[in-house]
Amino acid sequence: MRTLVHGKTILLIVGGGIAAFKALELVRELRRAGARVLPVLTENGTRFVTPLSLSALAGEKVRTSLWDLEDEAAMGHIQLSRAADLIVVCPATASLIQRAAAGAADDLATTLLLATDTPVLMVPAMNVRMWLHAATQRNVATLRGDGVTVMTPDDGEMACGEFGPGRLPDVAAIMAAIAAQFGPKPLLGRHALVTAGPTHEPIDPVRFIGNHSSGKQGFAIAGALASLGARVTLVAGPVHLPSPAGVTRVDVMTARDMQAACEAALPADIAVMVAAVADWRADAAARKLKKDGQPLPPLQLTENPDILAGIGQHTRRPALVVGFAAETHDLIANAAAKRVKKGADWIVANNVSDGVFGADSNHVHLVTATGAEDWGAQAKQAVATTLANRIAVHFSGSA
Ligand code: C5P
Repeated sequence: MRTLVHGKTILLIVGGGIAAFKALELVRELRRAGARVLPVLTENGTRFVTPLSLSALAGEKVRTSLWDLEDEAAMGHIQLSRAADLIVVCPATASLIQRAAAGAADDLATTLLLATDTPVLMVPAMNVRMWLHAATQRNVATLRGDGVTVMTPDDGEMACGEFGPGRLPDVAAIMAAIAAQFGPKPLLGRHALVTAGPTHEPIDPVRFIGNHSSGKQGFAIAGALASLGARVTLVAGPVHLPSPAGVTRVDVMTARDMQAACEAALPADIAVMVAAVADWRADAAARKLKKDGQPLPPLQLTENPDILAGIGQHTRRPALVVGFAAETHDLIANAAAKRVKKGADWIVANNVSDGVFGADSNHVHLVTATGAEDWGAQAKQAVATTLANRIAVHFSGSA
C-alpha cells in the first residue's frame, strides 16, 4: 500500500544518544515506504552509529561536517535543508534540543535547522531526569511555540537503568508522526474541546481528593485532532505532561474550574471529554486541619457538576459530543446507558479492572447509537489517532 511518505524526501538528523541505533531502523522503514532519506550525523552521533552503516541503509552519502568542501560544492547546507519535504531529528538529544531552541548554528545539524522553513519533527530520547528537567521542558515549549513538532518520549526502562519518560518512541509511532506531517487536514476550520487528566478537590489548603488519571489519553487525542487541522482547546487537570503540538492548553484544578473553562471555550464543533472528573468535592477548610487529639472531622461531600452532561444538553451543544466511560464490569451495557443519560453521541468505553491508569495502552470499545465496536488493545496514541480519524470521517459527511 502506498503511504503518505511515498516519494517524499526526508532529511534525517541523527543526534548523539544511545537511541541513535534505532535511527537505522527508521531509515529502513522510510525507504521501505518509498521515501528518500538524506542522512546527517552529528559529531557525537558518530560515536553511536557509523557513517558507513547509515549511508549503506539510506543509499546516500552521510554528511557530518559543516566544513566539508566537497559537499559544499555538490549541495551546500542551505540547499540541503531546503531539498527536503520534512526534517526529522531522531534521536533529538537534550543538547540538540537546547541548541535548536536557542537558534544556534554551531554545527551542520543546527545550521540546517536554522537555515530552513521546511517543517521539522523532533523525536526526543534522553535520560528521564534530563527530559523532565525544567530547562529541557522550557526548550521543548520554545520549539513547539516556533512551530516544531516535538514528539513525547515513551515511558519505560531506560538504557541507564532508570525508569520514566525519555525512551525513543517506537519506530511505528515515529512513522505515523512522519506520515501525519504529510496527511490531509480534514478538520481544518473545526474547533475541538478536549478535557483530560484528573481534578483535585481541596479538603484544606494542603490536601485534596484526587484520582490516578495520568491525562495521557486525553493529551494524545488533543494532539491527534490538532494534527488533522482542528483548532484544539485542551482543558487539563493537574498532570505532568507537555502540551501536544498546536494545542491551546488551559490548566485547571477542580471540577468546577474545568466546567467554567469548558463553558468559556464554547462554541465548539467537537467535544471529547476524557477527564476523570472527581464526582464529589469537599467543603474545603480555610486552614489546615490539625490532629490536635480531636476526633477526625467528618468530610462533607457535595456532588460535582457533570461537565459532559452539561455540554451534552447545552444550548450551544457541539455537533459531536464524545464521552469516556471507565468501567470494571458490564462494559458495553453501562457505556450505552451512559451515552443516553449524558446526551453524548459516542462513548469510548474501557475496562479499567486491569490497570489502565498511567499505562501506555488501552483496550477500548466505541459505543454509538448503532452499536459497539471493539477496537482491541492499542497504544493510547493509536486510540487517539483512530478516534481523531473517525471524527474526521463523521464531519466529512457534513462539511
Ligand atoms: O459517570 P462517569 O464519571 O463514569 O462518566 C465518565 C464521562 O463523563 C467522561 O467522559 C468524563 O469526562 C465525564 N464526566 C464529566 N463530569 C463529571 C463526571 C464525569 O464530564 N463530573
